[in-house]
Amino acid sequence: MMTKTLFLVAVIVLLPLAVLSWLWVQMLDYYTIPVKYDGPPHPNGDLPPFPGASAENLWWFIHISDIHVSRFRDPGRTVDFQKFCKENIDVIQPELVLVTGDLTDAKTKDFIGSRQYEIEWQSYRSAIKLAQADEKTIWIDIRGNHDAFDVPHVQHETNFYRKYSIHGPDGDQGSFIYQHKLPFGTYSFVSVYALLDPGPKRPFNFFGVLTEEELKKVQENVEKTQNSNQTILFGHYPTATVVAPQPGFSDVMGKGIAYICGHLHSLGGSLPNLKALQRSGSLELEVEDWKENRMYRVMAMDHDILSFVDVKFGQWPVILITNPKRARFQAPKYEPIHKMLHSTHIRFLLYSPFEVKSTSVSLDGIHQGAAEHVKGPLYVLPWNPEEYQTGLHYIAVTATDAGGNTQRITYRFSIDGSRPEQWLVPSVILLSDMPKGLLLMYAILFSVLVLPLPVLRWSYRKGSEVLQSNFIMRSIILLAHTDIYYYSLLCLPTYPVIGPWCIGELIGGLWGVSTMHGIYVNGAFVGEVFSYAVVLLDMLLLQLPLTIFFVVRLALLCQPTTQNGCVSSKVENYKTNSGNMSMTGTIIYFLIYLILLLPIGWSYYNLKTVWYAYGKMAFFLSPKSLWSYILLIYVFYKIHLPDKPEVIANGNHANHVS
Ligand SMILES: *[C@@H]1O[C@H](CO)[C@@H](O)[C@H](O)[C@H]1NC(C)=O
Ligand SMILES: *[C@@H]1O[C@H](CO)[C@@H](O)[C@H](O)[C@H]1NC(C)=O
Repeated sequence: MMTKTLFLVAVIVLLPLAVLSWLWVQMLDYYTIPVKYDGPPHPNGDLPPFPGASAENLWWFIHISDIHVSRFRDPGRTVDFQKFCKENIDVIQPELVLVTGDLTDAKTKDFIGSRQYEIEWQSYRSAIKLAQADEKTIWIDIRGNHDAFDVPHVQHETNFYRKYSIHGPDGDQGSFIYQHKLPFGTYSFVSVYALLDPGPKRPFNFFGVLTEEELKKVQENVEKTQNSNQTILFGHYPTATVVAPQPGFSDVMGKGIAYICGHLHSLGGSLPNLKALQRSGSLELEVEDWKENRMYRVMAMDHDILSFVDVKFGQWPVILITNPKRARFQAPKYEPIHKMLHSTHIRFLLYSPFEVKSTSVSLDGIHQGAAEHVKGPLYVLPWNPEEYQTGLHYIAVTATDAGGNTQRITYRFSIDGSRPEQWLVPSVILLSDMPKGLLLMYAILFSVLVLPLPVLRWSYRKGSEVLQSNFIMRSIILLAHTDIYYYSLLCLPTYPVIGPWCIGELIGGLWGVSTMHGIYVNGAFVGEVFSYAVVLLDMLLLQLPLTIFFVVRLALLCQPTTQNGCVSSKVENYKTNSGNMSMTGTIIYFLIYLILLLPIGWSYYNLKTVWYAYGKMAFFLSPKSLWSYILLIYVFYKIHLPDKPEVIANGNHANHVS
């Protein structure tokens, strides 16, 4: 007897636990262990030139994203950007500046609606023009989703990118190539164009969509650059936020050493390191936003090895170590990392508006001395890489300038290709497919919260013994048999999958219908799926609290006082029970109304969004929002009518007692 119980416990508790921990370990491995490159080493790895004391074979550029010039918010954003265009460009003197989208904010004053404001575009352009930044460097800017809010089509007059961007209209005709040709090599940049066209107003303009045609174009462009020393892809959206047909975006991107992007703003500043090695072997490097965090990135190619540093605006001096390269971001499939072993000097770039006063380099905590200035920003210090040939080692560089500023950069490097584990959360975010993930979570919640209802309704047709044994179970079964609860809990989550969400002016002057699967507007279909996030939140903030509320309410109203409790066929029975509740029962009964704050808050937020984002008509013509909330209010009115029993009694769903 005892052994049998133990065995049962073992099976019921330990088995799922074992399976779960196995899955957890698999997941950790998948996301944290960087894919190992076991192809042939880079052909140039053992060929000169090698990093030494000369400033040759070295160049650098800047990546900045999500500037969000806004006419309503934070004027400092634009002022700082003007300063950046002047001071930072003058000090750093990049060969190239890449701006990966969201040049303007395009949000209305209420911060919910969205439209293009010409004045924001003018401020963006004049910041660059006044500083003559576009004459001092090559300035390549592309559109982000904010720059596409409420733009009926690319050629439309509200697409101010065509008029005010520095790169000009041909940056808006799909993927393009820019090749940076230097005496020692050619470096290619391929843009990825996943913008929505037509561009809906927010919020349904969050994910990017790569059409089959665009994906092919990116693929072809990347192929065209395969003879250059390095190819970098750049776009607004991280791969995880792009809806793309087979073979998928991350596959195509695997032809370049890195894909650099913006859009996620380091998730509101909480995840400053959205960077990971993709499974294709190339790097995905999201830069933090300018908007709130005033961040930008300096990237350098030193003997074709890519290094970068993310810097906060105003911080000096900027230190960018180029040799040895940071182990975490090695891409041996594309980089001649063997050159590090043949190198004679530690090399780093130092930028400051002030004179550099002192530098100091240490390896594995041991001070190595001050570096020597070569030319421009380059500083070098001789070293013997063979001493660091195996495993991970630390390098630290400290620099002080005459302005009294000191900065220190430290990281791990390796010569033999060793690398640390990937950062878990950034890796999970960047290596996943966000729309599919959201849809999956929705499907799981749907199967847990909704699907059991029809199953219970069909499997417990007649009064059954289970009904008396467990009171929560009894209450859930009762719920499935009570039409008003059953149908509202079934229709609420099912409708958005099949029916239109709202009809209204989704894009400036153009009428359209939004659905869970995309937006039809002006005869075009835009497969944007931010709706997956919305239905998921519906599940968590509407469906779940409502289900709990109904179940607890039923459990309290229908105490099993008689032989078969609420499954009695007599309505009177039910009524007496409801009038005979214990003190605790009464308190709980009122407390569960607090749960309703969640659905109320969420519905309010939804209604407000529809009203401000898409206007009055869309607000009134929204079956998913307004109409369904009105129905819910009706349901609540109905179940609170004093002498209309809502519970069907005899366990047969066909016999609704009213
Ligand atoms: C660029 O590629 C060419 C051809 O492979 C090579 O000779 C050259 O050294 C490379 N440039 C650098 C800086 O490594
Ligand atoms: C509550 O119901 C039970 C059983 O039906 C009954 O014995 C009891 O008197 C009732 N109490 C009140 C306060 O009505």
